[in-house]
Amino acid sequence: MNILFKLSPNLSAWVISTIFAFSAANIVFAVEPFGVEPGDPEKGKVTSGLCQGCHGEDGMSASDDFPRLAGQHAAYIRKQFSEFNKGVRYNTDTMMGVSQDSLTAKQDLYDVAAYFASQKVMIGDKLDKDVSKGRNLFFNGNPATGLYGCVNCHGENGKGRSPGNEVFPVIGGQHKAYLVKQLKEFRAAALSPQDPDIVFKEAGSGIEMRKNDPAGIMRNIAQRLSDEELDEVTDYLSQL
Ligand code: HEC
Ligand code: HEC
Repeated sequence: MNILFKLSPNLSAWVISTIFAFSAANIVFAVEPFGVEPGDPEKGKVTSGLCQGCHGEDGMSASDDFPRLAGQHAAYIRKQFSEFNKGVRYNTDTMMGVSQDSLTAKQDLYDVAAYFASQKVMIGDKLDKDVSKGRNLFFNGNPATGLYGCVNCHGENGKGRSPGNEVFPVIGGQHKAYLVKQLKEFRAAALSPQDPDIVFKEAGSGIEMRKNDPAGIMRNIAQRLSDEELDEVTDYLSQL
């Protein structure tokens, strides 16, 4: 069981129970399926040639079209990849296609995830602007709207929580455009039942939604973010 990095004053019982539930779920994550080895980064380096074309040789993609995978948790990488494959995360036809056509052997996915996870953790570019508002949101959230500080789950500098907890992804040092896209997709998914203007569209057209966060944990967060806050917090995250 992991110790919370920092408890914000308004951390509700809901968040606490969710965090602990997922710390427990993480133990289940760690149990390898029968016949699959934990993952060999050396083999993964070779097997991930296709992925490197978009995500960068060491997972530090230069283009903000492609998220960085450098130092991302291996179990998180496997979860996302499998969910694209199964259509549970359907935001992009790119990864849905890639996941259908590649790494069909479970062991290959373990190796590739181990390779990217073993790289030096992603690092952003310093921005020539004041990011103090975003920093404040990251640490303290917004008590007026019940928004929790991201640090509670994403850890110090957004580099994920304590070692061994792979449920909460690394987001510090990720591309801004990618962070914005994900938060808007979580938010659209949370608001869609109330907002008839937001309609789920097939991948690549119109507003897309992301619903693969366990227990709606990120949808709950994202729906509380205003456009301005979303911009500020992603500025802060992208330069960590
Ligand atoms: C043609 C370009 C392309 C290739 C090749 C590609 N990806 Fe991706 N990948 C993307 C894009 C674009 C996204 C962002 C999807 C979105 O916006 O939701 C993504 C997202 C991901 C994510 C989710 C990251 C996160 O932070 O949640 C993972 C994991 C991933 N890719 C793994 C892989 C692996 C493993 C391979 C190789 C088998 C691969 N990708 C090959 C374009 C690519
Ligand atoms: C209560 C815990 C919790 C809090 C607080 C939280 N997150 Fe998350 N976040 C998660 C989990 C869990 C995921 C992984 C979802 C999945 O498995 O698909 C995630 C995923 C994300 C992603 C997608 C990452 C990727 O690589 O695709 C972004 C972006 C994100 N969070 C941003 C934030 C921001 C910004 C805040 C603060 C305003 C925040 N989160 C607060 C739990 C949390």
